[in-house]
Amino acid sequence: MTETMLQSLPGLKTIVDEASIRRRCAELGAEITRDYLGKDLVLVAVLKGAVVFLADLARCIDLPLTMDFLRVSSYGDAQESSGVVRFELDLSQTVTDKDVLIVEDIIDTGLTMSYLRANLLTRSPRSLRVCALLDKPSRRLKPVEIDYLGFTIPNEFVIGFGLDHQGQYRNIPFVGAMPRVEA
Ligand code: IMP
Ligand code: MG
Repeated sequence: MTETMLQSLPGLKTIVDEASIRRRCAELGAEITRDYLGKDLVLVAVLKGAVVFLADLARCIDLPLTMDFLRVSSYGDAQESSGVVRFELDLSQTVTDKDVLIVEDIIDTGLTMSYLRANLLTRSPRSLRVCALLDKPSRRLKPVEIDYLGFTIPNEFVIGFGLDHQGQYRNIPFVGAMPRVEA
């Protein structure tokens, strides 16, 4: 299936391969397991991009935990952030007195995560940290502290492992850079 899909993306360049992602998930999971022992861990995944990472990461965390989801919009179908962040779906449960770990696919401008952090803090969690698969620091507009990071990547628009372009390609099992479309 992936073979068929990749044929429609001839210029796709691998940025982070499958084995590296698997290895890093195991490392992050082990680190989170040590840090959250005895705590009340809630993984809060940002839909839809973080779903693939969440699924792999959660299975590398050897602790009781719960999962919850939220969705915010910032991008629409464009490759650039609009700077406008809006809740489209909120958590199903209160996070007051919980140890919340936000799981995100990528921190780009930082607008989404700084908004999310501020919003979740108003709900009085016991702790609030951020775990991101990817960081694209070259595009940062707002500073974001990433407590657990998979990989720092160059300024390229990437797809795969949950990341999309116009809703497509989330099921590619690695992170690749889209071929640049010249105008
Ligand atoms: P930020 O608010 O600019 O940090 O953007 C965060 C969101 O934009 C991420 O959760 C992604 O959904 C999306 N995004 C940013 N960069 C990329 C990319 O290279 N590929 C796919 N989605 C991206
Ligand atoms: Mg996202």
